[in-house]
Amino acid sequence: MEQLKGRDILGIADLSSEEIDELLKLARQLKKGERSPQCNKILGLLFYKASTRTRVSFSVAMYQLGGQVIDLNPSVTQVGRGEPIQDTARVLDRYLDILAIRTFAQKDLELFARYAEIPIINALSDLEHPCQILADLLTIQECFGYLGGITLTYVGDGNNVAHSLLLGGALMDMKVRIATPNDYQPDEQIVRQAKQLANNNAEIIITDDPIAAVEGAQVIYTDVWASMGQEDSADTRIPVFKPYQINEQLLSYADPEAIVLHCLPAHRGEEITEAVMEGKQSRVWDQAENRMHAQKALLASLLGLI
Ligand code: CP
Ligand code: NVA
Repeated sequence: MEQLKGRDILGIADLSSEEIDELLKLARQLKKGERSPQCNKILGLLFYKASTRTRVSFSVAMYQLGGQVIDLNPSVTQVGRGEPIQDTARVLDRYLDILAIRTFAQKDLELFARYAEIPIINALSDLEHPCQILADLLTIQECFGYLGGITLTYVGDGNNVAHSLLLGGALMDMKVRIATPNDYQPDEQIVRQAKQLANNNAEIIITDDPIAAVEGAQVIYTDVWASMGQEDSADTRIPVFKPYQINEQLLSYADPEAIVLHCLPAHRGEEITEAVMEGKQSRVWDQAENRMHAQKALLASLLGLI
């Protein structure tokens, strides 16, 4: 994975389909303990939003690689008091080997990437969640043995997770269907980009019909109806999104062998019911575990350990 050394990953399409394939293969090897690269590098975590999975899985992955982690909580660093990103990025670049950032605006990530030479990883922005999608692809591959041709249906808000699924699915020759209420469709530019990335086998469908989208699909995926930063609009969103809940009735339209994924945290009774979340088709805990294996593969590759 020499070609990934030093690169920034601000979106899932910063990786080619071959590179994703290689990363997933490495993640599987790391998970089985077949490889154990080691380093003494330092990862910085600069998170402007809450996180359980991403924060802990990145930290554990880095510790298992022999490296160390510094939590750069914006509330106690100067960047949270308005120090310009250009200045923060150039300083952190002198201390750290790699930096994962969770923030709001994609352009802030781009600014960090422009001013810091070290690899910058998008640990979730309002536009994308590429690390999540690497773990999702790993989980789907583990369940079905392959990715190409799998129909993945995302039902819910056309948000960061939906965007990265669109792009990642298109890159991996999957059939991606996104069902959202009309006013909550994914970003048009992302949809265009996904259609451009999709080759003859991939398929991109955007619809407001959850039943048609779920029909025969092998992977059913959802996320919260109000993402971090949108909590104030939750009351307006809940009635609009009600028909987009993943419940047993909607799931009955899917392929009988379908699996259910959710990036978590979940709001049981809103975007997913307790019965589906805890049901036999749910793979959400394996999916959460895979965050660690996928990110370890990413860290090892970006740091040039592999
Ligand atoms: N899925 C995910 O990114 O979870 P956290 O917000 O807990 O990191
Ligand atoms: N769409 C959600 C994902 C959380 C992991 C959010 O941005 O809050």
